Amino acid sequence: MRYMRKLFVWAMLLYLVAGEFQFSIPRPEVTAPQHSDVLLPCIFANSWIELKDVLIVWRHDNTELIKFDAGQMNPTSRRVELFVNEIERGNASLLLKDVIISDEGQYECGVVEAPNEEYGIIKFKVTVAPQLFLNVSLFVMDQPGMLECHAEGFYPRDISITWFRGATSLPSQEAPQLQSNPDGTFSALSAYKYTPSGGTANESISCRVDHNSRNEPWVKTTRLKFRRRPSITVTSQVLERNKEQLVTCRLDGHYPDDIVVTWMRNGKALNKSELKSDGTYVTTESFLLTSFNEKDEIYCLVEQEGFKDPLTKIIPIKMGADNPQNTITALYVIVVILLILVLALLSGVIFLLRRYRQLLAQEGKQTQEGANLLTLSDRGKVTGKSPPDPSDSTPLE
Ligand SMILES: *[C@@H]1O[C@H](CO)[C@@H](O)[C@H](O)[C@H]1NC(C)=O
Ligand SMILES: *[C@@H]1O[C@H](CO)[C@@H](O)[C@H](O)[C@H]1NC(C)=O
Ligand SMILES: *[C@@H]1O[C@H](CO)[C@@H](O)[C@H](O)[C@H]1NC(C)=O
Ligand SMILES: *[C@@H]1O[C@H](CO)[C@@H](O)[C@H](O)[C@H]1NC(C)=O
Repeated sequence: MRYMRKLFVWAMLLYLVAGEFQFSIPRPEVTAPQHSDVLLPCIFANSWIELKDVLIVWRHDNTELIKFDAGQMNPTSRRVELFVNEIERGNASLLLKDVIISDEGQYECGVVEAPNEEYGIIKFKVTVAPQLFLNVSLFVMDQPGMLECHAEGFYPRDISITWFRGATSLPSQEAPQLQSNPDGTFSALSAYKYTPSGGTANESISCRVDHNSRNEPWVKTTRLKFRRRPSITVTSQVLERNKEQLVTCRLDGHYPDDIVVTWMRNGKALNKSELKSDGTYVTTESFLLTSFNEKDEIYCLVEQEGFKDPLTKIIPIKMGADNPQNTITALYVIVVILLILVLALLSGVIFLLRRYRQLLAQEGKQTQEGANLLTLSDRGKVTGKSPPDPSDSTPLE
């Protein structure tokens, strides 16, 4: 009787300590992005557990991944982890670190706590989001061009790519071409032959990508760009024989700026550099300056291998006369001013000459008078008469 009571108390204690065995797999399907850490939940009790009485085994597609046995942790990889403090609380959840595509599959959580024994399955899936590129060729109006939407390095394989003009989907679209990559991911290309019409040189084209790696689709949008041909102007109009001439070719109005220009002679491309008879070269590089301002420094820079410093030659900039009409007007003004100056100078010279002649004449008279005065003063000395005060004498004009 005493023995029976003791046993009952022990059983009660064991029950309280061990808690109720309530095995559950809260999420039977788990999906996570590649390279993330993910928890595979597995719960077996809701209160305190005696660690030494518990055996936990996780398997990935029937291969043992980690075992917790009688307080000992035995992982087979550094990327898996069980938490002892959580096992004590009846939590056998597995942490998978830095998941990769090959981690996908069936995970089995097995918990043995005598007399209980339970197993649960979790399906684990990995996703990799694609990198998207929308490549659109340049279009010529009313001619077909290619629209290309590339989705690169995604997982799993299922993907949908749809083309839109504005908000309406384009007609007769085909499934994208799929390709598998060495790392287990996939790439898809959706090519669509599109003929723009109706003269709208600014259509909005988008490619919509739906994939498991994201809840909402990706939408890449671009505006169609159109090629344009340039008009060509050449100088010189006529070539003169046996004369060095600069020929230029000017292209105007093209789009885009990926045009190649070559001068040809009898179907053969002319070189910018030509070999001269003395074995050296002559090179011409010309440039069409459409505008510049006073502060610009425009120069030709010549760099040559084997020489440290480049050669430069600056073109000085003269501002003000920006059209020939102005130059002519300016010239007229200068000529008129010059004429006036010359006339003024001439009349001045004539005036001065006349005056000079007058002066000469006057001076001649006065020297005569001076001579007379001198004789007078000499005479004054003799006669006792004072000579005339020089301030009295009227200054020469
Ligand atoms: C189980 O343990 C993991 C790891 O510590 C934790 O993130 C998770 O929340 C735990 N689950 C429960 C139900 O306590
Ligand atoms: C598409 O465009 C991207 C970037 O804009 C470029 O890296 C890639 O090479 C292009 N692909 C093709 C096929 O033109
Ligand atoms: C094309 O249209 C968009 C929106 O209507 C506008 O923002 C953009 O400036 C346009 N581009 C050209 C080159 O007309
Ligand atoms: C142009 O010059 C380069 C280098 O001097 C030379 O290799 C090439 O053959 C020349 N081409 C022609 C068409 O003369």
